[in-house]
Amino acid sequence: MSILDSVSKIVKDNFGKKEKSVVAIDFGISSVKVIQLRNEKGLAVLETYGELACGPYGDLAVGQSSNLPPEKIFELVSDLFREANITAKVGAIAVPSRTSLIVSIGIPEMEESKLAEVVPIEARKYIPVPISEVILDWWVVPKNAQENEAEKNRKVEAGGQDGTSADQKYGKKVEVLIASIHKDVIRAYQDLSTKLGLEVDSFEIETFSAIRAVMPNDLSATVIFDIGAGTSKISIVDYGIVRLSHTINKGSQDITVSISKSLNIPFGKAEEIKRRYGLVGDIEKGDLVESISPTVEYIFAEANKVMLTYQRERSRAVDKMILIGGGALLKGILETAKSIVSVPVVVGLPFDKVETPAFLNSVLKESGPEFAVAIGLALRKLEDL
Ligand SMILES: Nc1ncnc2c1ncn2[C@@H]1O[C@H](COP(=O)(O)OP(=O)(O)OP(=O)(O)O)[C@@H](O)[C@H]1O
Ligand SMILES: [Mg+2]
Repeated sequence: MSILDSVSKIVKDNFGKKEKSVVAIDFGISSVKVIQLRNEKGLAVLETYGELACGPYGDLAVGQSSNLPPEKIFELVSDLFREANITAKVGAIAVPSRTSLIVSIGIPEMEESKLAEVVPIEARKYIPVPISEVILDWWVVPKNAQENEAEKNRKVEAGGQDGTSADQKYGKKVEVLIASIHKDVIRAYQDLSTKLGLEVDSFEIETFSAIRAVMPNDLSATVIFDIGAGTSKISIVDYGIVRLSHTINKGSQDITVSISKSLNIPFGKAEEIKRRYGLVGDIEKGDLVESISPTVEYIFAEANKVMLTYQRERSRAVDKMILIGGGALLKGILETAKSIVSVPVVVGLPFDKVETPAFLNSVLKESGPEFAVAIGLALRKLEDL
């Protein structure tokens, strides 16, 4: 071996040790999703991805919500890693919004150091467990120009009415967004990672991961709407930051339940029919659209309400709504969404944020919405390396 060869081998070995691939895991209530990305000259390259339904691990059907015990989750993730050929040794886990909390609260304006004392005290009102048991993160939401203007006008009006000064009557408030995760949830994921032989030190509430995967790179107000199996999660991102996050207690699973009831068929069969026909096309046994529509309409009407309230309160126009989550794959959903939602609606394309082989383009475009959380999280983890 020449000197040059041995030098190149040393260099290679050293570089080889540096982890370049990351895996991100999204624990959905109906299925677990994984994505493995690699950093190649600053680009995020898709190495592999996969999904496995939770139902069969708890004697339930594909698509059904399943609260699996830890040993079953381990079995499922091990199977998924094997099937998807996950080789990364470092990873990140998305914390489901059902086990976390994001709230926005108004607090009188004060110094940053004082806020650090006050926020955890205020947060107690919203967090149903002792603050010592949760990990708390918070930040002040900057006001936009319209909000400043609206606040000024309110104060002028108030000051004129009863002789009190405007500042006395309303005081200045800042809006603080609080995110909290129960420490037990993190501990359970850490145990699982240890058993999987995976180094995981990044946890992120799924909402933030999803946003990273589909947000346009601008300052517009955008609604990200994740239609999952159990719930639908609406978030509004404005001026590049999350302003609001809200959960609607209905998801795509409710559609399957309606089909199952109205056609008097088992959940599994109803799930197949839902995926095959969706809102486009009747089947012999009855009008499928009639059993699907009420849930879809309810979900979008609720999302629209949240969005309209935001627009009114902030005097700010929302630009568009981006759909993600498996529920966004329902055939014909976009047409119904467009007829209810007052801004343009599009389906998210999270795989656009990563380099993918051309031959997979159409498959990835179709399954993209389901992988938004996993992709957004993997992108963040890649930046940490
Ligand atoms: N092709 C399809 N057509 C219609 N619905 C679909 C299709 N594919 C998946 N779904 C539905 O999407 C839902 C699963 O979506 P997703 O994987 O985003 O949910 P989840 O992450 O498990 O749930 P959650 O986010 O509530 O925890 C299921 O109800 C499933 O029936
Ligand atoms: Mg989900």
